[in-house]
Amino acid sequence: MTVNGKTRVCAIIGDPVEHSLSPVMHNAAFKKLGLNLVYVAFTVTSTELKTAVLGAKSLGLKGLNVTMPHKNAVMNYLDAVDSTAKSIGAVNTVLNNQGKLIGYNTDGSGAMIALQENGVDPEEKKLVLLGAGGAAKAIAYQAAQDVEELVILNRTPEKAKKLAEALKSFGAKVKAGTLSSKVLEEELPTTDILVNATSVGMHPDVDISPVPSDLLHSDLSVMDIIYNPLETKLLKDAKSAGAKVVSGIEMLLYQGAVAFEIWTNCPAPVEVMREAALNELEKQGVCL
Ligand SMILES: NC(=O)c1ccc[n+]([C@@H]2O[C@H](COP(=O)([O-])OP(=O)(O)OC[C@H]3O[C@@H](n4cnc5c(N)ncnc54)[C@H](OP(=O)(O)O)[C@@H]3O)[C@@H](O)[C@H]2O)c1
Repeated sequence: MTVNGKTRVCAIIGDPVEHSLSPVMHNAAFKKLGLNLVYVAFTVTSTELKTAVLGAKSLGLKGLNVTMPHKNAVMNYLDAVDSTAKSIGAVNTVLNNQGKLIGYNTDGSGAMIALQENGVDPEEKKLVLLGAGGAAKAIAYQAAQDVEELVILNRTPEKAKKLAEALKSFGAKVKAGTLSSKVLEEELPTTDILVNATSVGMHPDVDISPVPSDLLHSDLSVMDIIYNPLETKLLKDAKSAGAKVVSGIEMLLYQGAVAFEIWTNCPAPVEVMREAALNELEKQGVCL
């Protein structure tokens, strides 16, 4: 595309951002749909966050993605935050709507859409979520609205309990506990969907899994939100047990697709975005 006087800019802000897949994913999508938009990455330190957000507004940027460590603090500088992002306490997407910056969180919806698009229907299911950090919290808020039963297990059980408490008003039956072999042994036989939102198994610790392999079974669908490596030990073990598996790149893809739709009002060209993200991961040396 030609960058001209009418080109609008979208950007990711965070620290670090150099390895973000969002620029290639969104630029491929803009190109595919012939939109006069470009997407760039800006390293923004915590001390510069306020001026960066105000600058983005002054310069008329169309949209922002916000990544670590600013997902929470950015809310202080926005004109409005949608109710889901407010409950989660984190914003990963900002729309500049005629000079007003509005914050959204697409991580949770991205994760649940990733499951559905990969043939895993959460309706009337029991989902066990491992982790209670930032990503788990976003997934838990969406999952509590989509599943019948949600079990949140975390190394630090107090965090899982606090999250479960905050989800009481949603439809699902929610409980919390410790992420341990004993609890997994009790919960997994009756579980339909298992989502790993801990960082256990992420590069370079690729030989570890948060779940003992003998507890996985063929009636499970397993999503690991880690995408480096693309196939974690948990997913390898799940595949061997005959379970359906969904890679973390799917959540990344669909959180991006939801953000794209917020900015452009156009359906996201998901296949083009997936291909761009996978090519970039390959260039960065991330493999199966
Ligand atoms: N696919 C995507 O789009 C996407 C999006 C966001 C994040 N992610 C990935 O998701 C993972 C979590 O990210 P986050 O932002 O939620 O991080 P975070 O806020 O730091 O949370 C980390 C979580 O992992 C748990 N954990 C860490 N080390 C552990 C260990 N040795 N044993 C058991 N549990 C452990 C933590 O438990 P404690 O509370 O006990 O410390 C916590 O629940 C990362 O690998 C990240 O790359 C993927």
